Amino acid sequence: MAISFEVLHKDIAARIGRLRVGERTVRTPALLPVVNPHLPLITPREMQEMGVEAIITNAYIFSKSADYRERALQEGLHSVLDFDGVIMTDSGSFQLMVYGEVEISNLQTIGFQKDIGSDIIVPLDIPTTPDADQERAEQELAVTLGRIREGHTFLGPDANLAGPVQGGVYPALREYAARTVQDIGFSFCPVGAVVPLMETYRYSDLVRVVMAAKRGLSPSTCVHLFGAGHPAMLALGAAMGCDIFDSAAYALFAKDGRYLTTHGSLKVEELSELPCPCSVCRSHTAEELKRSPERERLLALHNLYVTLAEIARIRQAITDGTLWELLDIRCRTHPRLLDGYREFLRHAVDLERVDGVSKRRFFYQSAESCGRTEVLRYQNMIGRFSVGERVLVTMTGKVLEGYDSVLLYKPPFGPYPVGLSETFPIGQSEVPEWDADMMQAGCRGIRRLADANPESRLSVLAPRRWVELVRAELADIEVLDADTV
Ligand code: GUN
Ligand code: ZN
Repeated sequence: MAISFEVLHKDIAARIGRLRVGERTVRTPALLPVVNPHLPLITPREMQEMGVEAIITNAYIFSKSADYRERALQEGLHSVLDFDGVIMTDSGSFQLMVYGEVEISNLQTIGFQKDIGSDIIVPLDIPTTPDADQERAEQELAVTLGRIREGHTFLGPDANLAGPVQGGVYPALREYAARTVQDIGFSFCPVGAVVPLMETYRYSDLVRVVMAAKRGLSPSTCVHLFGAGHPAMLALGAAMGCDIFDSAAYALFAKDGRYLTTHGSLKVEELSELPCPCSVCRSHTAEELKRSPERERLLALHNLYVTLAEIARIRQAITDGTLWELLDIRCRTHPRLLDGYREFLRHAVDLERVDGVSKRRFFYQSAESCGRTEVLRYQNMIGRFSVGERVLVTMTGKVLEGYDSVLLYKPPFGPYPVGLSETFPIGQSEVPEWDADMMQAGCRGIRRLADANPESRLSVLAPRRWVELVRAELADIEVLDADTV
């Protein structure tokens, strides 16, 4: 049974895709709820009715369970869990990370996962914790890569085995790990050991390691972000090019009396309203939810609905080409998530290479919008404009005599010839009243034009209130005050 992945739409590095495992198909980005066979707050069948196409469960728990081990081996996982979508199994590596050891070998867990009919099998990778120094991260990675090779040889090249990418917090190791795993031959690669980063809000480290792993992977590989499922960070995960998320958050938060939203979680005791359209929230008052004997299950249902709705919103945004705008909103819900977003923007050069060429719109939302791929791509193109000897960039639309070429101006992009005024992004961008951030970005566009045309002489006609800023940004370029010429 082979795993295949097909990319249908793209936005930033995100993809709408189709993951196929044997006869079963999953639309991506997808969230795989974690199912604990011992305490299913929500049964896999109910999940399927909520639109879940794939789940993940822990093979280690099955292998150690007196009740389930034999049943799983005899009936198969799909029958035991009563779920006919894709079932991914984890190896016990998570226990390895939390407890430091497991009583199972790599080939034992792989063999067991195969025998219970898992759709996606995970080897016993070592999740290197963020506190590991580089030497330990290298040693653990060597063991992980050995186990991946061992599993690959054991099951054969076309098997439904996942190739986890480890390497701790070291981007170079992550990239090397990804490239090595890719070379062995995998179409499904989880990026591992990121849970401790997310638990401690280290989103910029998360972005660094995921972007490094992505550099080493083929664009046609389906990428799973192991243990990521908080609705506030899914847009960021998807934007980096992660296709699969899995999460126990819906259940763990419910157990802790927490109500998930896309902008953080609330203690159920703090709620006086249930601001959510899901069936739980529309059929209960906040007081009823707090006092219900079924509180934990109701919270879990709500939490899962919220998470699945966010996945749907992300898929819609990718299809529409508006993921940057969703990302900008989501990443403002926590300052550390904003750090992650800013780190992500530092990878704009890589992102620009994979992002779609034309989108239906560009909404300016924040200073961060200046770092978007559309701005970078536009400014790269400025170097190709052909201009005469005397060039005027008019910020006010006013045209002066004596110039060979006149260009208009729109921040944060920069100068544009009138012929581009209807094309993306100039024509389809909505920009609020100019501010210093977007003017600085626009001046970078003017700088591009000047650098690409060293033979030309550039003048900028600026509204009075922006003359000072433009002069400061473009020290060696003539800046005229539109009110005095
Ligand atoms: N669950 C959360 N993180 C990991 C990881 O790094 N590896 C495996 N196998 N499972 C995980
Ligand atoms: Zn709800």
